[in-house]
Amino acid sequence: MINEIYFDDFSKLETERLFLRKLSLADASEMQSVRSDERVMNYMDSERHLTIQFSEKFIAENLKIYEQKNGMFWALIEKSTGKFIGDFAFWKIDKKNSRAEIGYALKPEFWGKGYMKEAMIRIFNFGFNDLKLHSIEANINPKNESSRGILIKLGFKKEAYFRENYYFNGTYLDSEIYSLLQTDFQFK
Ligand SMILES: CC(C)(COP(=O)(O)OP(=O)(O)OC[C@H]1O[C@@H](n2cnc3c(N)ncnc32)[C@H](O)[C@@H]1OP(=O)(O)O)[C@@H](O)C(=O)NCCC(=O)NCCS
Repeated sequence: MINEIYFDDFSKLETERLFLRKLSLADASEMQSVRSDERVMNYMDSERHLTIQFSEKFIAENLKIYEQKNGMFWALIEKSTGKFIGDFAFWKIDKKNSRAEIGYALKPEFWGKGYMKEAMIRIFNFGFNDLKLHSIEANINPKNESSRGILIKLGFKKEAYFRENYYFNGTYLDSEIYSLLQTDFQFK
């Protein structure tokens, strides 16, 4: 059973190089700079954030999902500079089955430095040990090599390949589903 106490009091987390705090409306301008970047959005298959107002609406919707106890949204802050470098989400939390889907993005200048892996290890420990998830799911565009790369490094296993099941921007796209069971997770 999911431990719902974490929906009353948001869990700020910390890693060696990062603060992981609750996403807030004040992050809209940084969020817009990340999610308007074509390198970031290449395989996200969701709308680019072309204005700050769009990001504010996106964040407000996420905060509502948290209040409804169906998701949790962290901002990734580099400790040494205080800079917003990306975000991570548990969303579509499926309480009956103690399962959550994940979403994540980093600013390109911070790619390849192990930041997302560091954040995920901390957040998955929280997810399994405190929030009491049983499994974590990721749904990726099969062309998203870096996203698949990090999932595999963390122990995710491929569960499904759906052909042309997702309509975006005038095209039917394939999807790959990966999952991590609590018992698969090695970075405890
Ligand atoms: C997905 C994303 C967050 C990964 O960021 P990153 O900076 O590569 O992540 P990290 O450096 O923390 O860790 C990546 C790990 O995966 C591995 N990896 C990264 N890219 C890889 C690739 N193309 N092939 C194989 N492995 C890869 C790295 O080797 C690293 O593992 P290691 O530390 O053991 O060497 C980043 O590419 C991004 O923001 N992409 C755009 C948004 C996006 O597509 N989000 C996912 C939507 S499903």
